[in-house]
Amino acid sequence: MASEANPSPSIIIRSFQASDLAQCQALFSAGHMSYGNAKIYIDHAMRKDISDIDKNYMQVTNGHWWVAVSTEDNRIIGQIAILPLKIGDPSFYKTMSDDECDQTCELIRLVVAPDAQRLGIGKKLISTLFEFARERGFNQVHLTTLTSMDKACAFYERNGFVKGHIEKYSRNDVKVDSSECVILDPNATIPEEDQRQMKMQLDKAAFLYVQHYFRKL
Ligand SMILES: CC(C)(COP(=O)(O)OP(=O)(O)OC[C@H]1O[C@@H](n2cnc3c(N)ncnc32)[C@H](O)[C@@H]1OP(=O)(O)O)[C@@H](O)C(=O)NCCC(=O)NCCS
Repeated sequence: MASEANPSPSIIIRSFQASDLAQCQALFSAGHMSYGNAKIYIDHAMRKDISDIDKNYMQVTNGHWWVAVSTEDNRIIGQIAILPLKIGDPSFYKTMSDDECDQTCELIRLVVAPDAQRLGIGKKLISTLFEFARERGFNQVHLTTLTSMDKACAFYERNGFVKGHIEKYSRNDVKVDSSECVILDPNATIPEEDQRQMKMQLDKAAFLYVQHYFRKL
């Protein structure tokens, strides 16, 4: 919450530019390191798409990457991206019905710098993405996060996302198409041991739990 001691920074939200790449990569790493997430998870994301944001987001039809820039020191203090579900989460795309899958977009790579959190920047970034998604004809946003990422879960639920199923992977597995997982039904009671593990930091837990979230537009 903004206060006099920690006032909301003055920011602009704009589209990614090529010269932003190193700052965006560093911000992504900082966001995940703050939860103690495994380096293998961060490195996988870096190799998969963050190595080339221009190609993997800006040049994709209906894809985009925005940055929140502090007008005080020109520092990038937040970022968010959108992709059509088919590209953002291809394995989940294949499981959706024909009328839903192409009207759903993926929210991905959201991070606000640790020293700028709880000042409404995440909310501004997500509102920018919702507006873009509506203009492009999407009627639903999907995302995944880890159950151990408590700040992210609280933020998404505050912003109208509802929980879908959870995928349970063995420790340090990275979510790739070939990974095997157990599906936990959101409407069934989750076993106590899973509930305990779901809240633990990745480096201490025996399993990795991927939470699916949805929001209608
Ligand atoms: C999740 C994250 C993006 C939220 O960004 P933010 O700019 O701090 O969020 P906002 O200030 O817009 O918060 C909006 C509301 O979300 C909820 N919220 C946000 N952070 C929260 C937290 N740490 N704990 C509880 N609720 C939280 C609150 O209801 C908040 O409103 P309030 O501050 O008036 O109570 C940020 O914490 C972050 O970058 N975390 C690390 C990386 C990460 O988790 N990324 C998501 C990957 S899936």
